[in-house]
Amino acid sequence: MRQYDLVIDPSSRAWLDDHLPNLSGKTAMVTGSTQGIGYAIAYLIARAGGRVIFAVRNVTMAERIIAYFNQNFGDNNHGVAHLDLGVLQTTKDAADSLIKGVNHVDYIFANAGVVGLPTDCTETGHNRTFFINHIGHFSFLGHLMPLIARSKGIKIVLQSSLRHWSAQKDLTFEKYFQKQEVIPNTVYADSKLANILFAMKWSSLCKEQDLDVEMFSAHPGYVLTSINQGTHDASMRSILGSISACEFGSACLKLMHRFGFSQPGIIAGSLPSLRAVLDEGAGFYSGPSGFLEVYGLPKDAAMSRRCYDTKLQDQLWEQSEAFCRVNYFS
Ligand SMILES: NC(=O)c1ccc[n+]([C@@H]2O[C@H](COP(=O)([O-])OP(=O)(O)OC[C@H]3O[C@@H](n4cnc5c(N)ncnc54)[C@H](OP(=O)(O)O)[C@@H]3O)[C@@H](O)[C@H]2O)c1
Repeated sequence: MRQYDLVIDPSSRAWLDDHLPNLSGKTAMVTGSTQGIGYAIAYLIARAGGRVIFAVRNVTMAERIIAYFNQNFGDNNHGVAHLDLGVLQTTKDAADSLIKGVNHVDYIFANAGVVGLPTDCTETGHNRTFFINHIGHFSFLGHLMPLIARSKGIKIVLQSSLRHWSAQKDLTFEKYFQKQEVIPNTVYADSKLANILFAMKWSSLCKEQDLDVEMFSAHPGYVLTSINQGTHDASMRSILGSISACEFGSACLKLMHRFGFSQPGIIAGSLPSLRAVLDEGAGFYSGPSGFLEVYGLPKDAAMSRRCYDTKLQDQLWEQSEAFCRVNYFS
């Protein structure tokens, strides 16, 4: 039986005491919430009395977690929707069932993500990392727009990464919407830049439409989770040098963690996303405040210049809408 309790490190505990209010009456939807940082977000919200909607591919695991939450934090009517971000039809089905079953959502954490080999494909033959990290979320959230639009005051956070800084030079996104041909090693970094571009463009469109919706992005710093424990991601070379791509790469990442050059755990990694929605003074992009934004308590974080490239934002938006056959503002 998996251990669902989480240890809260002292500095995260102090931050939570100051920033996490009682959330009874609030509903948060979290993608990828059966493990890792998404689980920490769900755990802290449930612990504060909020309701969690798990948008996940492992429904059985979510149900076990809900039983644990009900037993330990009180029954807050948590819910589950089956969502596989690698399959467009399930993104639509999940959104349709949530539109019917949920009246109002206060927060959405679009958190799920993967780091795969550049050669990993979806069943449709598209690059798996970009599909799950960007396309699946774009489709799911687009189909969810009726619920989002009626949830006045909703706040939405797209989980990005420090790695968005190392996105491909002269990046265009066409290749990721076509059946996989040659995919660069920077695919994970490209997908994490896409998360920010998507949030920025969506935010400006909501303002134009006068919708009471706020978008944010965040990055957790560096947290040892299953996404990077056995990393195969060759683009990691851009940060750690070629050592990370060699057979000692995963040991090297564990050493970084051991010597404190990382967040102490998933709770600390969840704080930038939580800050985005809980702190009225939070800017658009939150991340850790320590050296190189790798660890530390959350603050406004730095974004690369390309995040502000409105042509790139427009291009990504148009290609995503056409590919997903979803129209956000129809
Ligand atoms: N850890 C870090 O240092 C770090 C740094 C920067 C950014 N991030 C970002 O933080 C987010 C969470 O990562 P993590 O470190 O917590 O990794 P993790 O522990 O591996 O969690 C990833 C989550 O994504 C879910 N997921 C994977 N494929 C999915 C799919 N096809 N459909 C729906 N859900 C899917 C997983 O679900 P299952 O439980 O079913 O596998 C899991 O719950 C990611 O977006 C990642 O890019 C992490």
